[in-house]
Amino acid sequence: MSSITMPTESEVIPASVPTATAILGTYKRAPMEFVRGEGVELIDAKGKRYLDFSSGIAVNALGYGDEGILKAMNEAMSTGLIHTSNLYRTAAGELLAARLVELSFAAKVFFCNSGAEANEGAFKFARRWARKTGSDSKVEIIALRGGFHGRLFASLAATDRPSYRAPFRPLAGGVSICERDLVELDTALDEETVAAVIVEPVQGEGGVRVLEASFLDGLRRLTAKRGIALIFDEIQCGLGRTGHLFAYQGAGVIPDMLTVAKPLAGGLPMGAVLVSGEISDTIQAGDHGTTFGGGPFVSAVAAHVLERLSDESLLERVRQNGAWLGEQLQTIARRSGRVRAIRGVGYMWGLDVVEPAGDVVQRGWEEGLLTLTAGEHTLRILPPLIADRDDLVRGLSIIERIIAR
Ligand SMILES: Cc1ncc(COP(=O)(O)O)c(C=O)c1O
Repeated sequence: MSSITMPTESEVIPASVPTATAILGTYKRAPMEFVRGEGVELIDAKGKRYLDFSSGIAVNALGYGDEGILKAMNEAMSTGLIHTSNLYRTAAGELLAARLVELSFAAKVFFCNSGAEANEGAFKFARRWARKTGSDSKVEIIALRGGFHGRLFASLAATDRPSYRAPFRPLAGGVSICERDLVELDTALDEETVAAVIVEPVQGEGGVRVLEASFLDGLRRLTAKRGIALIFDEIQCGLGRTGHLFAYQGAGVIPDMLTVAKPLAGGLPMGAVLVSGEISDTIQAGDHGTTFGGGPFVSAVAAHVLERLSDESLLERVRQNGAWLGEQLQTIARRSGRVRAIRGVGYMWGLDVVEPAGDVVQRGWEEGLLTLTAGEHTLRILPPLIADRDDLVRGLSIIERIIAR
């Protein structure tokens, strides 16, 4: 089997994207066409370099062209197994699940292909468990104000974004949204009817909001007392982004289920539901399924990524650099007078800007920086976890310029 080689810069393919697109218009795409990636940078068809503070929306934690990922892919390919189906066991899937269990509270893992699919799976497992241990009326799922959990019918019903929801009603039933407030939750969490609560420990799409450990702890106490499953959606904030492998470890609050996806397989599509022993004991063959979930190729690559992202020296760097990044952003905000608030942790920050955040993102393209929005007025930055101080300094100086302009 020949090894995978990356093209050199001079071999970068010229622009090949047709002006008219045949891709369904569900996304408003930026005008750049990327043809190559190197470390923390993307390179477009004209050869212009962009520092990527979006990481493919929190996916490319190890940046682009990572040698370790390429090697893991190459080795996995050499077995000839890309897919075998979930009817058979493969070492790669078993080892990845065992490692996730070792590194977390979970007893078992369900593999799937995306974040939304992971959350939909967690909802099903919660209902299965609640019906078996409670009653047939214990089916409600509660999500929180400002949360984002995906675009499928149940995950969309748990997503607090009216413009995403309205055109597609009716959404899945039995899912409702509650304020991020323990008093309101105390009333909403009826032990006879509620199966689960889902929460992002750090809300991403909803504006980068770090939920207080005391709030998560209060929610844990309420749910535990009433036999309600607590699901942490760590699809965006998990796997190292907060400076802890899992955000729950930083908060010191243990959920019953946890969903991950985005960076798990280094850019290949993969999601997972980490499930506690109590819930996994109630799940049986036939309860759920997905054709591609946890195939040998994607699992082998994810196993490599997981080792890298659970490395304590990487996590320590994210914690330290992240705290420093927050301080620098505060300074920039003060100097510019054009930022209303800053929120974040680790390599996940949001700046509430006075103008539409999309305008700031577009100015970043001109200056060779990729950032994101999180709602109308929040500029969101999610640098790759391999970004070092020099990369952060470079990004910060561009951010200062594009905010001030
Ligand atoms: C917190 C959170 N949950 C769920 C999802 C949905 O993931 P996917 O787009 O892979 O379905 C996202 C995606 O941005 C997310 O940030």
